[in-house]
Amino acid sequence: MIYLIHLHDIQKKLPQTDTLLFDNLNFALNGHQSVAIQGRSGSGKTTLLKIVAGFDTRYNGLYEFKGVTISKNPKKNIKFRKDTIGIITQNYNLLGDRNVQANIQLGLNEQSKNQNKDIEKMLSLVGLPGYSTKKISEISGGEAQRVAIARALIKKPAILLADEPTGALDEKTELEILELFKNIQNLGTKLIMVTHSNAVAEVCDGKYVLENKRLISN
Ligand SMILES: Nc1ncnc2c1ncn2[C@@H]1O[C@H](COP(=O)(O)OP(=O)(O)OP(=O)(O)O)[C@@H](O)[C@H]1O
Ligand SMILES: [Mg+2]
Repeated sequence: MIYLIHLHDIQKKLPQTDTLLFDNLNFALNGHQSVAIQGRSGSGKTTLLKIVAGFDTRYNGLYEFKGVTISKNPKKNIKFRKDTIGIITQNYNLLGDRNVQANIQLGLNEQSKNQNKDIEKMLSLVGLPGYSTKKISEISGGEAQRVAIARALIKKPAILLADEPTGALDEKTELEILELFKNIQNLGTKLIMVTHSNAVAEVCDGKYVLENKRLISN
């Protein structure tokens, strides 16, 4: 059986130690549209997203995407990362001194950088119409979070990885973002989301917990 994402017996050591963070971790994604990953602070949730994104390749075991092995040479994964993966990191990684539009363009490749219409459409989708020219340093934390979501979605990735995407939001904005995530699944993007919130995990159709160095279906 070929899965969209298939992790086989992943073993990962903490850098510069012999301590295992993951040991015989397995994961197969196919039917689910959205998956929540929970687990204690330090259990390795962010590290797991980095492996799935193809950024972290220092592990033992096998990672297949649609049956094709993801190389452990990060340079060979650039195309996979650029074409397939959208990622929203825990600290958004936005450039504070640049405007909203410039930050969203970071999500696009060189050829499609001038698609201002698409950027406007995406900004409306995340509830920030007319925000193109605002500077990141002059918008709120929740607004910045939505810019990070727009940047991750602008290239319509097959997979959206989101690390605590609603962590800094009030309840109403959180609900709006969750509604947005439901809509992107209609675009064919599958969502893998790390969250501490049970309410947020509830909206996903698959639930996992990182525990005892493994990913366990919940
Ligand atoms: N670059 C690094 N060098 C050394 N240790 C690291 C590094 N990155 C992460 N770790 C360690 O790996 C473990 C897992 O970290 P990770 O960030 O994946 O946890 P997490 O589950 O995302 O936690 P949180 O819920 O707090 O975000 C932690 O013990 C952390 O200290
Ligand atoms: Mg984390």
